[in-house]
Amino acid sequence: MRRKLVAGNWKMHGSRASSAELLAGITAARPYDCDVVVCVPFPYLSEAAVALAGSDVRWGAQDCSAFEQGAYTGEVSVLMLADFGCRYVIVGHSERRQYHAESDQLVADKAKVALARGVTPIVCVGETLAQREAGETEAVVKRQLSAVIHTLGHCASEMVVAYEPVWAIGTGRTATPEQAQAVHALLRAQLRAATPQADHMRLLYGGSVKADNAAALFAQPDIDGGLIGGASLKASDFVAICRAAR
Ligand code: PGA
Repeated sequence: MRRKLVAGNWKMHGSRASSAELLAGITAARPYDCDVVVCVPFPYLSEAAVALAGSDVRWGAQDCSAFEQGAYTGEVSVLMLADFGCRYVIVGHSERRQYHAESDQLVADKAKVALARGVTPIVCVGETLAQREAGETEAVVKRQLSAVIHTLGHCASEMVVAYEPVWAIGTGRTATPEQAQAVHALLRAQLRAATPQADHMRLLYGGSVKADNAAALFAQPDIDGGLIGGASLKASDFVAICRAAR
């Protein structure tokens, strides 16, 4: 039985004050029957680490450099994240792929550098609306995942995968549980061909997950939790989604 995981992706939202309030609301509602992670903006990481110390709520980042150190102005190294006790990092979010031209291989390299330093990468894959309508969903997500599988080799089983259809992110248009499950089953099959640990790996769904649709999504056999954007910014909404994961 896989323990479910719910990760909040705060994106570029909030302030010191609102972050502290959100974290207080999330910790006050413990215990949870799932693993809970908050992926906060870089400047708030150290305060998140302090606020969450002693709690089982984990903190993560939303991106990292593919390099460990060096002359890479503006980049953040996974070594720095690990310094803050950061346990997770989102890599390959569609907003990074789209606005920062991140390639499949760059995403895979980031996942590799994270794992090498004990930080679990949450690797995002997902098709655009045009790709779905052209019948390319399977080919796109397989190509994105395959780059990571090949780069990670035998460590592939240690990543978390998030299926996030781009057309469902921030649009209020969620994949139906059946649509999401169909893609998760494809991803699981691809992972099974790559690692004997595939049935222990967690595959998250992301894209307009809300308190009222989370339970139906999480009830699908290959959906092991969620990556939550907009609904992770309000403690009561995020807590309700975490409660739906059991
Ligand atoms: P959303 O975002 O829940 O606001 O759709 C999900 C994500 O981008 O991770």
